[in-house]
Amino acid sequence: MNNPKIKIAVIGLGRLGSFHAQNIVNRVDSLELVAVCAAENQLQWAQDNLNVSAVYTDYKKMIDNEALDAVVIASPTALHPEMTIYALNAGLHVFCEKPLGINLSSVDEMISVINSHPHQIFQSGFMRRFDESYQYAKKMVGQGAIGDIIYLRGYGVDPLSGMESFTKFAAAADSGGIFLDMNIHDIDLVRWFSGHEPVRVWALANNIAAPELKDLGEYETGVAQLEMDNGSIATLLGGRHAAHGYQVELEVMGANGWLRIGEHSEKNLVTIFNQEGIVRPAFQDFIERFNHAFILELQDFANNIIKGQQPSITVEDGLKALKIAKACQESVNTGKVVDIKL
Ligand SMILES: NC(=O)c1ccc[n+]([C@@H]2O[C@H](COP(=O)([O-])OP(=O)(O)OC[C@H]3O[C@@H](n4cnc5c(N)ncnc54)[C@H](O)[C@@H]3O)[C@@H](O)[C@H]2O)c1
Repeated sequence: MNNPKIKIAVIGLGRLGSFHAQNIVNRVDSLELVAVCAAENQLQWAQDNLNVSAVYTDYKKMIDNEALDAVVIASPTALHPEMTIYALNAGLHVFCEKPLGINLSSVDEMISVINSHPHQIFQSGFMRRFDESYQYAKKMVGQGAIGDIIYLRGYGVDPLSGMESFTKFAAAADSGGIFLDMNIHDIDLVRWFSGHEPVRVWALANNIAAPELKDLGEYETGVAQLEMDNGSIATLLGGRHAAHGYQVELEVMGANGWLRIGEHSEKNLVTIFNQEGIVRPAFQDFIERFNHAFILELQDFANNIIKGQQPSITVEDGLKALKIAKACQESVNTGKVVDIKL
C-alpha cells in the first residue's frame, strides 16, 4: 500500500518559493501542497496556478490552522530562524532555504531548537549537492581520479539580466551580502569536495559593475582566498554581472589531474551558426541550471521524512558555511586577513 502523501506548505512565493511550490504540485512524489503563505499580491497567482485554496499572509496562522506535516521556508533569509523555530515547535518537519539565517545569535537559537527535535527532519537547501555533474565529480574525486586536492575554485555569478530582481530583493530585505547570499553554495562545495575546513581568509569586493548597489550596502563582486586546514587553497568568486547568463563553475585541481564543472555554463548541446558567429546558448538563471537538483532535493526531503532519517546535509554544514561566509565579509569590511573559528 502507498504511504499517504506528506501534507506540506510553502512560506514565500518569490523567485525560488514559487518554483518549489510548482515542483511540489507537479514533480515531487509523496508531497501534497495544502497551503501557502506570502505577500498578499502573490496569493491570487498561487490560487490560479497551484490549485491551492488555503492561502495566508501570516505564517503562524497557517501553521496553527492547517493540518500540516511539513513546511518549506523560502522567505527572506533573516526570517528563516523564527519560522523554523515556530514550525518545529508545532511538530512539523522543515525544509529551509539556504542560508540558515543572517544573525548568528538567532541561528544559534534555531539550531538548539532543531537539536531538541531529533525526530523531526530539518533539511537545508544546498541543492548543488543533488546535481548530477557535482555528484559524478564527487565520486571521481572520492575514487582518487585526480589525486590529493591542491586547489579549489568556485564561481557563482548571477546574470546581469537578474540585477533588477536582485535589487528589489536586497531593498526589501537584508541579503546577508555577496558571500552569504551567493558564495555560500561554493563554500559548501569546497567543504564537501575537500573534506577539510578553511582556517583563514582574505577577501576583497567592489561595485564597479553596479555602483547603485552601494546604496543598498551590497557589493556586486566579491573574491575570497581561503587557506584550508591541510594547506590546500580555495578561491571563491561571487558576482551579479554575467552578461552571457548564469555562470556557476567549480574547479578542483588534484596532484595528478583536474576537473571542472560547468566551465562554459552551456544550456544544452545546441550550437547556433549565425551572423554572430558560432554561438552556444548559456543557462540564464539558477532555476534553469539547477532545475532537476531542486526537484531531487525536495524528493530527498520527502524520503527522509518517510524513513525517519536526518539528511546527509547537516545543520552543522549550514552553520559552518554561514560562519565562513561571514568571515569573508569581515575580511572585506576590515581589510584584514581573518581567522575562521568554526
Ligand atoms: N538555493 C538557491 O540557490 C537559492 C536561490 C534563490 C534564493 N534562495 C534563498 O531563498 C530565499 C528566498 O529568496 P527569493 O529570491 O525567492 O526571495 P524573494 O524576495 O523573491 O521572495 C521572498 C518571498 O517571501 C515572502 N515573504 C516575505 N516576508 C514574509 C513573511 N513575513 N511571511 C511570509 N512570507 C514572506 C514574499 O512575499 C516573497 O514571496 C532566500 O533565503 C534566498 O537566499 C536560494
